[in-house]
Amino acid sequence: MKLIDGKKISNEVKQEIAAEVEQMRQAGGKAPHLAAMIVGHDGASETYVAAKVKACEVVGFQSSEFRFEEDITEAELLEKIREINEDDSIDGLIVQLPLPKHISETRVIETIAPEKDVDGFHPMNVGKMVASLPTYLPATPAGIVELLKRYEIETSGKNCVVLGRSNIVGTPMSVLMSRKSAYGDCTVTLCHSRTKNIGEITRQADIVIVALGKKEFLTGDMVKEGAVIIDVGIHRVKSDKTKSGWKLLGDVNFDEVAPKASFITPVPGGVGPMTIVSLLQNTLLAAKKEIY
Ligand code: GUN
Repeated sequence: MKLIDGKKISNEVKQEIAAEVEQMRQAGGKAPHLAAMIVGHDGASETYVAAKVKACEVVGFQSSEFRFEEDITEAELLEKIREINEDDSIDGLIVQLPLPKHISETRVIETIAPEKDVDGFHPMNVGKMVASLPTYLPATPAGIVELLKRYEIETSGKNCVVLGRSNIVGTPMSVLMSRKSAYGDCTVTLCHSRTKNIGEITRQADIVIVALGKKEFLTGDMVKEGAVIIDVGIHRVKSDKTKSGWKLLGDVNFDEVAPKASFITPVPGGVGPMTIVSLLQNTLLAAKKEIY
């Protein structure tokens, strides 16, 4: 069994991005600039946005945070997005989700200019991804593809089972793994909450990508010997064995599955660190105007 070290790979990619930013600056250009909007004071969103801003600093990007109170109206938020769309000094814009209930996430996402949508959530960019056209790929699936590539894991002709059909992970993941024009070329099965006999399906898989949001869902009896296991889940649970009193678990029962796997991502330190790196990669593409 080989552990896929997302922390190490994410640091390597960050160094590559930092080197490119340095080159851009030496050539007289400006550093890429990411804007992040956050509405309200959700703890997890605060943590994610802080991590994104920090990552920008590490690679030499400029970043701007736009903070709004929970009671901002949808019209006001959309107006601010339109302002940033028009601001040539900003290359990429993300609006941290979830948003308060009175604001439509769909309308927010559709208001972001597709060329600045470095989350890859705008329907225009989702469409381009499905059509295998160059675009900003959603962060988590793109990070997983980067891990598979850097560990030289063969995917062509393999059976890949994706568990979970969310817009931001499962669905785009299934598209990327099945397509021909980029990395992938797998035969993909997408399972979700209505799928019957998931274990029978995952036992046929050469690659299992688990993004269900269910703690330790994938157990040892559900995987075949030698499978590649990618765990997107993250759950904080109480533990009397750690100093903090908490530990993190994934969607995979690591102790049961790891001995059977050829490669496996740990939680933490697997997929998680790669997602922010993908956002940086997209922001770099936006700054270089390589997509639009
Ligand atoms: N909330 C959870 N994941 C994400 C993400 O990738 N981007 C944004 N904007 N919000 C999120």
